[in-house]
Amino acid sequence: LTLDIASSGGNQSSSLLYGLLYEDIYHSGDGGLYGEMLRNRAFQGSSSDGAASLARNTDYWHPVGGVSLAIDKSSPAISSSLPYQMRMDVPAGTTGTVGFYNEGFWGFDVDATKRYIASLHMRGDYSGAVNCYFYSTTTGQVLGSTSMGIHQTSSAGWVQSYSATFQPSKTGSDGNNTFYFTFDGSKLAGKSVYFNVFSLFKQTFDNRINGVREDLADALLNMNSKYIRLPGGNNMEGNSSPYEWKWNETIGSLLDRPGRPGTWGDINTDGFGLLEMMQMAQDLGVEVILGIWAGLYLDGQVVSQANLKPYVDSVMNELEFLLGDKTTTYGAKRAALGFPSPFTIKWIEIGNEDYLNGGTNSYYSYRFMAFYNAIHAVYPSINLVSTINPNPVNSNGSSLDLHIYGNENYFVSLFNTFDQASRKYPVFINEYAATNTGSNNIGQVGAQTLGMSCAEAIFLLGCERNSDVIVGSAYGALIKNYNEAPDTVAVIKHTANEVLYTISYYVQKVFADHMGTRTLPVTATNGGFGPVYWSGTANSSSTILKLVNYNGKTGSSNAVQVNVKGSSKNIATLITLTAPSSTSVNNLPSLGGESSTITTTTLSGSAGSFSISFSKPYEIAVL
Ligand code: AHR
Repeated sequence: LTLDIASSGGNQSSSLLYGLLYEDIYHSGDGGLYGEMLRNRAFQGSSSDGAASLARNTDYWHPVGGVSLAIDKSSPAISSSLPYQMRMDVPAGTTGTVGFYNEGFWGFDVDATKRYIASLHMRGDYSGAVNCYFYSTTTGQVLGSTSMGIHQTSSAGWVQSYSATFQPSKTGSDGNNTFYFTFDGSKLAGKSVYFNVFSLFKQTFDNRINGVREDLADALLNMNSKYIRLPGGNNMEGNSSPYEWKWNETIGSLLDRPGRPGTWGDINTDGFGLLEMMQMAQDLGVEVILGIWAGLYLDGQVVSQANLKPYVDSVMNELEFLLGDKTTTYGAKRAALGFPSPFTIKWIEIGNEDYLNGGTNSYYSYRFMAFYNAIHAVYPSINLVSTINPNPVNSNGSSLDLHIYGNENYFVSLFNTFDQASRKYPVFINEYAATNTGSNNIGQVGAQTLGMSCAEAIFLLGCERNSDVIVGSAYGALIKNYNEAPDTVAVIKHTANEVLYTISYYVQKVFADHMGTRTLPVTATNGGFGPVYWSGTANSSSTILKLVNYNGKTGSSNAVQVNVKGSSKNIATLITLTAPSSTSVNNLPSLGGESSTITTTTLSGSAGSFSISFSKPYEIAVL
């Protein structure tokens, strides 16, 4: 195969092509990106039975020293948003240590090189110390401790107490750790005391208060993505009325955030709220595509045209909150919450998958236009994204979000799917994933194989070749907790103390690291697309050729000859991504680690001509 790369003649490429989708799915928010380490910290509902509900309980908390723990609704509540608290009843005559411990989200990361801080709100009589510590269930050791002094009577109502910041004395050998709060039982004997809104944070990404987990944010940062769609997916829609994601219930004091049943089996605490998400986007240096709820619940219930206005008004308030200056009502609220400068938003996506669950007719007939008209009138330069193809206002420049899921073979077949696509309006693929190997269609696999990741790479080449119309792409889902979702795909999976970078992660990273600003025509001789696929682009400093070998030949006798027209270069950088076989997968470090490898070499050539030999039948190369 010989590939001649022209020096001009292609299309402009989107600067956003590689993006991210954030939705709280299987603990990508709570117990994932959101740095809060205590589970069920404010008794907002039950997540324990695989279906989120507002039934309250003390799950994930366990008594210490003969006390009993119960869910309690006595007055005064800590806030109207958080009407339930945990009551600790201490038997009369108690003399020893009492208290409770929390399980965390499948344990805790205890790292002796990092800082931690704990806090709680308490109502009731207590004057004494609260000892707070990590305990390893694997080794039976205390790994690090801190304390807080509490001096309060029941007439004081709710009082918040903080521990001193502390660094654990030992790093946990694994994530099987618990976190204890213990009290002097003799001072509580015969009494009941009440607790709510606990907190334990490890130092966060960019040291933000109420911020995000450092290792996961670093993983996102290293993907070099250009945008993030947030909040996205089914979780924004809510299973049923009235549990759609409500921006105004995710801002301000944590005491004023009621939380909601998420759609993926878990209660959302909403501690990772609108401002925390925007802050994360800023810290990652990515543009935001804001997801707004468009009147469709996952159970198919739709807000009628007559009742839609309050929802449109709420979105307009949200936009003023994010984009208005300090003289506006909602802009002033944002400033009061520590964000004096308005954010920048260039894209808003109206709804999520409105073609499902019976949403299509109402989307076309009134839902989309109600939001579109209101937003467009005030913010004419913001691009509005429809979730249905064709979009309802294609003459007005609204764009489209297509979601593409399927097996490996399907993703290979999508390579040329956009070659003849209409150029009438821009298209995002704001969710895609090869969810199974080969032509298998039953369920998903738990980790993307090299074959699946190469198929996704072929699909991305197709996007890149057509990136005058394909503006962006984002994998669905981005992050999942490994313990909760071992059987479905995500770009990254995490446990309390580990991160699994899938081969798909590396495909996206390698591609995003080497983006062109325009495509370049490539002429093939002695072969066509398959088993090798390619895309040629250029930016101001480089000509870039991306190749995917998909069940192809290897070795120098099957090398691909590349000629870069007009180039006099004698060296090029070659980056390859592969793994031992098409079925290889990456795993958590403690379960065998990564099978994929990335290799960077300097390739010698002559006057813009280079020879690329694949070392494996399934391999990705960027020259
Ligand atoms: O990311 C997984 C889910 O897939 C999203 O919530 C939804 O939009 C899609 O169906």
